[in-house]
Amino acid sequence: MAFKLTVNGKTHVIEAAEDTPLLYVLRDELGLNGAKYGCGVGQCGACTVLRDGAPLRSCIAPAASLSGHALTTLEGLRAPDGTLHALQRAFLAEQAGQCAYCIPGMILAADALLRETPQPSEADIRAALDSHLCRCGSHNRIVRAIQRAAK
Ligand code: FES
Repeated sequence: MAFKLTVNGKTHVIEAAEDTPLLYVLRDELGLNGAKYGCGVGQCGACTVLRDGAPLRSCIAPAASLSGHALTTLEGLRAPDGTLHALQRAFLAEQAGQCAYCIPGMILAADALLRETPQPSEADIRAALDSHLCRCGSHNRIVRAIQRAAK
């Protein structure tokens, strides 16, 4: 089937089966590799993107169901001139990524948090990222990066 998807401000016409996960369309059709395949069942957060500003697990969201929504991937956070987003700069400054596989999802979840709660407590940050898994154990640096971005 054919449907439209608006990703990072651009609208694309997609041809895919009705149940194709958004993650596959982003990576395989649109070449947007920020969102990662981790568990594939909505448990780890590596595939997180934003749907109308709210976190969405793209591995379990059928792309065809997302027409009419504004989708944002990690690639969409940078300014048009390439300037990194404050969260991206803070994650780099705090060396929050070790293998960094989880980082795109962490950053997008943090972006959603900071839009709702510009000055989050540490407990707010930990709650927002509770369902995002980091196998390297970089959680404390990730929390510090989000605190830095919120300043
Ligand atoms: Fe989507 Fe793990 S890959 S939640």
